Amino acid sequence: MAAPAMSTTHASSPASETPILSVRDLVVRYRTSNKGHVDAVRGVSFDLYPNQSLALVGESGCGKTTLGLGLLRLLPRLGSVPSGSIDYTDGQGKHVDVLKLNRQALRRWRWEEGAMVFQGAMNAFNPVLKIGEQMGDTIKAHADGRKPSQQEITDRSSEMLRGVRLEPKRVLDSYPHELSGGMRQRILIAMALLLDPRLLVLDEPTTALDILTQRAIVDVLAELRAERGFAMIFITHDLSLAAELADRVATMYAGRIIETGSVRDIFNDAHHPYTAGLINAVPPVRGELPTLASIPGSPPSLAKLPTGCAFRDRCQYAVDACATTDPPLDLIEERPLGLSHTAACLRWQDVHSSREVVGADV
Ligand SMILES: Nc1ncnc2c1ncn2[C@@H]1O[C@H](COP(=O)(O)OP(=O)(O)OP(=O)(O)O)[C@@H](O)[C@H]1O
Ligand code: SF4
Ligand SMILES: [Mg+2]
Repeated sequence: MAAPAMSTTHASSPASETPILSVRDLVVRYRTSNKGHVDAVRGVSFDLYPNQSLALVGESGCGKTTLGLGLLRLLPRLGSVPSGSIDYTDGQGKHVDVLKLNRQALRRWRWEEGAMVFQGAMNAFNPVLKIGEQMGDTIKAHADGRKPSQQEITDRSSEMLRGVRLEPKRVLDSYPHELSGGMRQRILIAMALLLDPRLLVLDEPTTALDILTQRAIVDVLAELRAERGFAMIFITHDLSLAAELADRVATMYAGRIIETGSVRDIFNDAHHPYTAGLINAVPPVRGELPTLASIPGSPPSLAKLPTGCAFRDRCQYAVDACATTDPPLDLIEERPLGLSHTAACLRWQDVHSSREVVGADV
């Protein structure tokens, strides 16, 4: 395999009408020792277009990581996808049914088309191998039987490390524990991009990092995306990061996507009470600090969901019908390229919320 050149980009068709990823009614299930099974993702559908950045937000346990792992078929042994579909379209317009890929095809697809930066930077490394060896192993594993030279491996690894603003000489010769959390996170991004995937899923890439390091990661990601043009699913708790890095936001609650829209829709005009609650819990950019509202109660157990809308026990808008109807995503405003505003709430017309979020350019 010739190491892909750093100048390779996928940025040529930002307005392509063909989604890179079409997910329909996806269910991800975990077998549990005492509760039978739980569906951590419950019928998720969305399209992601080339070059687009989608932020997945929502409280801990709502299924963000499970969805990301499910999309790339990286679920742990007890996880499975009992129903739904994941259709990926490659750069030549060829459709790939991701759930049907055999082991070998999946291995190739996973690094060359779709890659993931995992939650928790330290656990993703092999602690006893230097970074240079770990990057080299990835390049060699995808060399199509050819043996790339050490020079080729070093050149490609160095190029990617410079792309995330790291000094290759020092990093390639270091063990993971010799580097800071921010450096490790950047290396993971560089490693995920080694084979030039068109889809990158990042799970909480800035969590547990100090604010300046977070800033550096956000800048690196924005630069890399502008330069290389990959589509990105960005999982985060941090709404201000979502606002900054995403074109679109999807809010998840109890395994479902319950609102989608452009960044502006979600921050300036949320129509699901849960999204509105999340937005209102974030301090405003300017003016006096209001009393920040938190959302009462806690998410329901996935093993014992209430009937109807899963949010109803916490919802100030709930009416009797919410106990019997689990609302589908309703169209609020139609737009092309997956940018429609939708919300899964029986009373979305009555819900209005707006908040200027730190870092948001909405
Ligand atoms: N390996 C597993 N086996 C059984 N249940 C699991 C497993 N991994 C996750 N879950 C359950 O699936 C649900 C979703 O978990 P997930 O990690 O996807 O949430 P999350 O939104 O990423 O949370 P966080 O923001 O804390 O990372 C949770 O209820 C969790 O307990
Ligand atoms: S459907 Fe009912 S309970 Fe659910 S969010 Fe809307 S108003 Fe609240
Ligand atoms: Mg997670």
